[in-house]
Amino acid sequence: MGENFRSITFIGVLILALCVFPGFVLSENGVTTRHYKFNIQMKNVARLCHTKSMVTVNGKFPGPPIMAREGDRLLIEVVNHVPHNISIHWHGIRQLRSGWADGPAYITQCPIQTGQSYVYNFTVVGQRGTLWWHAHISWLRSTLYGPLIILPKQGTPYPFAKPYKEVPIIFGEWFNSDPEAIISQALQTGGGPNVSDAYTINGLPGPLYNCSAKDTFKLKVKPGRTYLLRLINAALNDELFFSIANHTLTVVEADAIYVKPFETETLVITPGQTSNVLLKTKSHFPNASFFMTARPYVTGQGTFDNSTVAGILKYEIPSNIPHMKKLPLFKPSLPALNDTNFVTNFTNKLRSLATPQFPANVPKNVDKRFFFTIGLGTSPCDKKNQTCQGPNGTKFSASVNNVSFIQPNTALLQAHYFGQSNGLYSPDFPINPLHWFNYTGNPPNNTMVSNGTKLMVLPFNTSVELIMQDTSILGAESHPLHLHGFNFFVVGQGFGNFDPNKDPNNFNLVDPIERNTVGVPSGGWVAIRFLADNPGVWFMHCHLEVHTSWGLKMAWLVLDGKLPNQKLLPPPADLPKC
Ligand code: C2O
Repeated sequence: MGENFRSITFIGVLILALCVFPGFVLSENGVTTRHYKFNIQMKNVARLCHTKSMVTVNGKFPGPPIMAREGDRLLIEVVNHVPHNISIHWHGIRQLRSGWADGPAYITQCPIQTGQSYVYNFTVVGQRGTLWWHAHISWLRSTLYGPLIILPKQGTPYPFAKPYKEVPIIFGEWFNSDPEAIISQALQTGGGPNVSDAYTINGLPGPLYNCSAKDTFKLKVKPGRTYLLRLINAALNDELFFSIANHTLTVVEADAIYVKPFETETLVITPGQTSNVLLKTKSHFPNASFFMTARPYVTGQGTFDNSTVAGILKYEIPSNIPHMKKLPLFKPSLPALNDTNFVTNFTNKLRSLATPQFPANVPKNVDKRFFFTIGLGTSPCDKKNQTCQGPNGTKFSASVNNVSFIQPNTALLQAHYFGQSNGLYSPDFPINPLHWFNYTGNPPNNTMVSNGTKLMVLPFNTSVELIMQDTSILGAESHPLHLHGFNFFVVGQGFGNFDPNKDPNNFNLVDPIERNTVGVPSGGWVAIRFLADNPGVWFMHCHLEVHTSWGLKMAWLVLDGKLPNQKLLPPPADLPKC
């Protein structure tokens, strides 16, 4: 292999770099900067025989993938050409000191108004795997979402055999009507919002719905190969079970963290979560095709979309096999819609890889302990003598420690940075519920929530332990809680009320799963730990969008450290104004 080979490889690498990475690339001082342009524009899209005008990135649904390598800097220019305010969140990106680029509207930035643009500028530090991006304002993420894929540094292999191909599988929810109208109506009436009409895989509902057979995701595979499926749950309001008929999947990563590999027929994935799985195809052409299906895991009491999305795993037909008319099509069997046992068993299998190269740096000492109740509640109607469509004529609400978050009308991070927080937020988020009650027993008579824009303030480098306790108010329910700006370690979980004397004895401080979104078990609790080493304002909320809309959200304010590299960077000049 001489000079020739090397130059061919070089050209090969160049071509590969150009087609694998759609963004425009510039390298300087060893740091690669990748440029993307997101034109937010309306586009007519038809599914289930309904055509609607939807908000898209560059006219694509789902949106285009962002590709990077660990260590790369990303510059993503978002230009808003639609009548809605827009902001985009890079879900799971640590955003070390770059909170201005995190994206949640009115938390780290004012939204980008019609005709305006904003360049999201951040560097991917110490992360590799599958994440995703989505709109972070109202319910616009129902159509504005796409993969965010971080490859390991050049020359660094995966801690598993190199897959033959990598395929994003992104789950979504399709609404025949406009989701913005659905949520604004629900917030007015106080009742539960209408549910989706279909689930989708890569934007396609598949053949189990009316008028949808042509909109089916097909994964064409060769026998005897390993495929890496990058699973992303971008659904608005539903946790999902997923399975491929007659195939076993090996889970190797969750939320862009390598895990101890384990095999499973079925996964459960909450909105906000991502997971990489290996699919090993059959060694020989199997004379059949296979459905891959997803349908919800549901614990709440409200109505939900109980339909099933299907895609098809198709093997290439070998040339020596005569053309066959119709292959048998196998279907997977998914757990029952409320199979909490399955979910518990599955989540208990998730462990960090915890090797010297990919350690699990679980905080061993805790500086601050917090106990948050997570759940639903009620609010009075806006007008006296009005009857609302929520429980007993009230409005549905949701809260953390009985505080239902009020969205401010300017961004919290800006207010904090410029010292203009007065009256906008208060730094007194409660460290535990003001009143003790039997959280998972009979709910209290008074289910009214309080309201406020309260922040939990943490000095730089505080080591935090947080217990999140589900409540049975208006029914126990699983809540996928997402923390911005950090990964956390899930050191324990259980059912019933957390017992501070007994339960910590069983915490896993050796190889707990590290992630950015965790399901608080229905009628149970979860314990997480994280090190507050990233200054900024960091949103935490239920990733069921309906619960976020009802106020199941709060924010942490992590103060600057003493050293220059422990401080929030100054805001970019083009930061949108409210
Ligand atoms: Cu994926 Cu605050 O969200």
